[in-house]
Amino acid sequence: MNNNLEKTMTLIERDAQVYPRFARIPYYPLVVNKGEGAIIEDFDGNRFIDLLSSASALNTGHAHPRIVNAITEQAKRYITYTAAYMYSEPLVKLGEVLADITPGNYKKKVAYGLSGSDANDGVIKLARAYTGRRTIVSFIGAYHGSTYGALSLSAISLNMRRKIGPLLSDIEHIEYPDCYRCRYEKEVVSCSLECMLAFEKALATYCPPEEIAAVIIEPIQGDGGLIVPPKKYMDYLYKICQKHRILFVSEEVQQGFGRTGKWFGIEHFDIVPDILVLGKSIASGMPLSAIVAKSELMDALDSPAHLFTMSGNALSCMAAYETIRIIQDEKLVEKSQELGEVAMEKFRGMMERYQLIGDVRGRGLSIGIDLVQDRHTKVGAREAAAKICYRCWEKGVILIFLGNGVLRFQPPLVIKREEMEHAMNIIEESIHDYLEGLIPDEVLKVSKGW
Ligand SMILES: Cc1ncc(COP(=O)(O)O)c(C=O)c1O
Repeated sequence: MNNNLEKTMTLIERDAQVYPRFARIPYYPLVVNKGEGAIIEDFDGNRFIDLLSSASALNTGHAHPRIVNAITEQAKRYITYTAAYMYSEPLVKLGEVLADITPGNYKKKVAYGLSGSDANDGVIKLARAYTGRRTIVSFIGAYHGSTYGALSLSAISLNMRRKIGPLLSDIEHIEYPDCYRCRYEKEVVSCSLECMLAFEKALATYCPPEEIAAVIIEPIQGDGGLIVPPKKYMDYLYKICQKHRILFVSEEVQQGFGRTGKWFGIEHFDIVPDILVLGKSIASGMPLSAIVAKSELMDALDSPAHLFTMSGNALSCMAAYETIRIIQDEKLVEKSQELGEVAMEKFRGMMERYQLIGDVRGRGLSIGIDLVQDRHTKVGAREAAAKICYRCWEKGVILIFLGNGVLRFQPPLVIKREEMEHAMNIIEESIHDYLEGLIPDEVLKVSKGW
C-alpha cells in the first residue's frame, strides 16, 4: 500500500486554491513527479504501473529517451516559429510521414492544431466548406473535446453542456451501436442493425441526406465506455455515406497510433475514411493534433480560415516524427495486438470468476471491463468501479473508470508483459477486496469519475 502522501496532500490543498474544479474529473490524489516507460512515481516517491497512459496520450510511455532527445535537439536549434507566417522543416517532414502511414492511396494534406478539440472544430469547418452542406452527424456517448465545436459534437455529460449555450447548430446525434446493451435485445450475429433504424428514419423524415456534410465516428467509442462497433454496422454506415456523398470522418484522437493493435482504429473495418482526426499520442505528450485528408478537400478553405500561432510547432512536430519511428522500430503496433490478446484472455478468466464483470471488450491495448450490478439487467456498477480504482491506486496501479462502471485499460504500448500481468493481478485483488466489503464508502467522496 502507498501510505506516504505528505507532500502530495499539501500540493493538492494548494491546487484547490488555484485550479478550477471544472477542469478535472477526480479519481484519487496522485501528483506525478517522474515517469519512465509504464511506471510513474508520485511526489512522495510511491511507484505506480500506469494503465491510463495520460488518457491514451502516451503510447510510447513516459519520457521515452528518444522523445526527450528529439525535443532537446530541436529546442537547441529553435523552439518554434509560427507556421501561420513562416515555413519549417519539422512540419513538412511530419506531414510527409503522416500522409504515408495513414489509410488512403491518394494525395493528402495535413493540418495541425494543439488538441483533439481544435482538430474536430477544423473538421466541421472543412466538411462544411468542401461539401457546401451544413449538417454534421455524430454519436450519443461520444466525447470529441471541449471547444464549442467539439463539444457540440459530443454527447456524454450534462455538466459539459449546462450553463454555456448556445452550442453549434445543425449537429445531429445518433445512437452508437452498443451490442452489449443492445436496446433491441438482439444478437450481433443475427441482428438486422436495428440500431440504424432511427438514423434511417431521420434521413427519410427530417434530416435531408443531401444536406449532411459529414458523419464523425470514433472507431471504438472511447470515453463513452470503450464500445466496439460491429463491422457490419461500420460497413453499412460507410455505404450510406457513399450513397449520399457524405464525408466519413474517423476520429482517432484516442484510438490512433497503435492503441488498438493497428496503426489506426478504422483499419479494423477496412474502411478508408475521407478525413482522419489525430491527437493525444501523436507527439508522445507534446501538444499536437492533426487533420489528415485528401488534398482537394483540404483546399476547400481559404487562408486564414483555420490556424493557430502554435500549431505545427517545431518541438511537437519533431516529437511526433520520432514517435512514429519509435512505434515502427519497437514494433509497438504488433505489441499492442499481442499484449492485448494476453490481457483479454486474462480478463475473460476474471469474468468467469466474478459475476461483477458483465463484459470485456476492446481491440489491442484498448480494453473496457464493464462492471455490472446484475448480469441480467446490465446496470453499471459505478460504486464498485470507483472503489476498485481507488484500491488499485492504493496498491500501486493507475486505473480509472468511465461512464457507469467501465474500467479503462489503456497502458502505454511499451509496458512490459510482467508489469502488465502484475497490474492485472492487482486489479483482481482489488475486485476481491471490493467483494469482501474491505473498501470503505469514504473513498466515494474522492473517486467520483465522469
Ligand atoms: C476521442 C476523443 N476526441 C477528442 C478528445 C479531445 O482531445 P483534447 O483533450 O486533446 O482536446 C478526446 C479526449 O479525451 C477524445 O478521447
